[in-house]
Amino acid sequence: MNTPPPAEPLLAWYDRHRRTLPWRGEGDPYRIWLSEVMLQQTTVVAVGPRYARFLARFPDVAALAAAAWEDVAAEWAGLGYYARARNLHAAAKAVAARGGFPDTEAGLRELPGIGAYTAAAVAAIAFDRPTVPVDGNVERVVARLMAITDPLPGARRLIAPVAARFMEQAAPRARPGDFVQALFDLGATICTPRRPACALCPWREECRARQQGIQESLPAKTPK
Ligand code: ADE
Repeated sequence: MNTPPPAEPLLAWYDRHRRTLPWRGEGDPYRIWLSEVMLQQTTVVAVGPRYARFLARFPDVAALAAAAWEDVAAEWAGLGYYARARNLHAAAKAVAARGGFPDTEAGLRELPGIGAYTAAAVAAIAFDRPTVPVDGNVERVVARLMAITDPLPGARRLIAPVAARFMEQAAPRARPGDFVQALFDLGATICTPRRPACALCPWREECRARQQGIQESLPAKTPK
């Protein structure tokens, strides 16, 4: 009942339809980490130019570590959530001091301000570790595919292990970073909150919510 869908159709779809984003094709963990931190509370469209500008000013982790806080804060202006910038600066110092980024999810978790989501995202995208960062897009895709009808936020308990199983099944193809970004893109462009484009979905046959015609009602939310 809980068999995850096969990875191949999603990866094939991603190879044809992946979005062109400034951090795509990037192998540098600093650049991937920066994109993930910016994307936490800011849209993809808004992040684009700010990401380029930040990197022009602080091109690598050593440059960010050596910068004065006032300069980092000034570069962050308008992005909001200054705690993110403070943590970014603190983590850059920690990374520079240890001579590079840790290359595991557990190692990344030890850096200031790097929580479960960011550690999993950087581990998967920069280091091809088979781990899944669960954001709103991934939650929606997983809840629909497996027809998880329990409401959020409680359903997160169920969704996270299912997402991990998706990855276990995808990992033998050795493309964890692409698999994760394919899930992000599927959630952002096909498996959208309203009016999902199921006809274009690489997992349309496997999707349990679609089989039951309940895709638009998932993930369910606890009434306020
Ligand atoms: N949202 C968060 N991380 C992302 C990424 N790497 N690509 C696209 N959307 C994202």
